[in-house]
Amino acid sequence: MTNPLDFQAWAAAGQSRIEAVLQKLLPAPEIAPQRLHQAMRYAVLGGGKRVRPLLAFAAGELSQADPERAALAGAAVEIIHAYSLVHDDLPCMDDDVLRRGKPTCHVEFDEPTALLVGDALQSLAFQVITEFKLCDDAAVQLEMAKLLAIASGSRGMAGGQAIDLAAVGKVLTVPELEFMHVHKTGAIIRAAALLGLKCGAPVSAGEYAYVDTFAKLIGLAFQVVDDVLDVDASSATLGKTAGKDAEQGKPTYVSAMGLSRAKAFAEELRLEAMKSLDSFGERALRLRQLADFIVLRKF
Ligand code: IPE
Ligand code: IPE
Ligand code: MG
Ligand code: MG
Ligand code: MG
Repeated sequence: MTNPLDFQAWAAAGQSRIEAVLQKLLPAPEIAPQRLHQAMRYAVLGGGKRVRPLLAFAAGELSQADPERAALAGAAVEIIHAYSLVHDDLPCMDDDVLRRGKPTCHVEFDEPTALLVGDALQSLAFQVITEFKLCDDAAVQLEMAKLLAIASGSRGMAGGQAIDLAAVGKVLTVPELEFMHVHKTGAIIRAAALLGLKCGAPVSAGEYAYVDTFAKLIGLAFQVVDDVLDVDASSATLGKTAGKDAEQGKPTYVSAMGLSRAKAFAEELRLEAMKSLDSFGERALRLRQLADFIVLRKF
């Protein structure tokens, strides 16, 4: 019998649940325009760690959220994330050919299709978050749509990506790097946790703030670790091209402080994030395990 506290088993169950939800949400490949729908499915299905939906599930456990609702909220975030990866890999951005162990979307299909995949996925995410009942209180669900919009837009992920592109070849200070990372990666991760939480019963302002602080710290840690793995792991392990940041002159935590200090910083963030969960006790077990996974992962 599997240990009920086992993270691997919990994560695997969440991953297959989210895969099934995504399968249903994405238009079938035979529906016109077939090529666009095939490319959307290619970009979203059958890959990725699904960290953001897992965060939505874990935060949802704190507010007794219906897992079906948390799964839909997590799927909306994962669809935004998948869109961001398709665009991030385009030749006009990071110009990558490998993603999730497969050719990138624009390589497998073509650039205009990849551009439209991003557009259509972004719209689909907002369809998901507005079409289904995710929360008992409709006003809270409206807040959820706004939260995802802000996290994805120019004050969140897209803004962070703009900063990333403008920073190529430059040396950024640590506060500037933090600003970039908190936006390009942290905003969506933070949204994933908060949306999962909002699917359930209302929590106190204090509890909401603790989850928010946790998610902010772990979102930054996620990108610090991504920077570390870019120099410290192989393309085969990562399923994406390693060594790209240095090659493309991207400022990262590794270029700013060196590999071992960047690793130590990620660990500091993990410990700080854990502290913000203290008052939840055992209820926050899955969030703690996810923090461990995000910082200690090898891929
Ligand atoms: C990669 O995200 C891009 C970043 C925001 C750092 P993930 O490492 O979560 O990629 P997948 O979803 O597992 O492929
Ligand atoms: C990507 O950052 C952030 C977003 C996609 C929003 P990176 O460019 O470092 O991600 P990878 O390394 O290509 O996955
Ligand atoms: Mg990038
Ligand atoms: Mg990239
Ligand atoms: Mg990277």
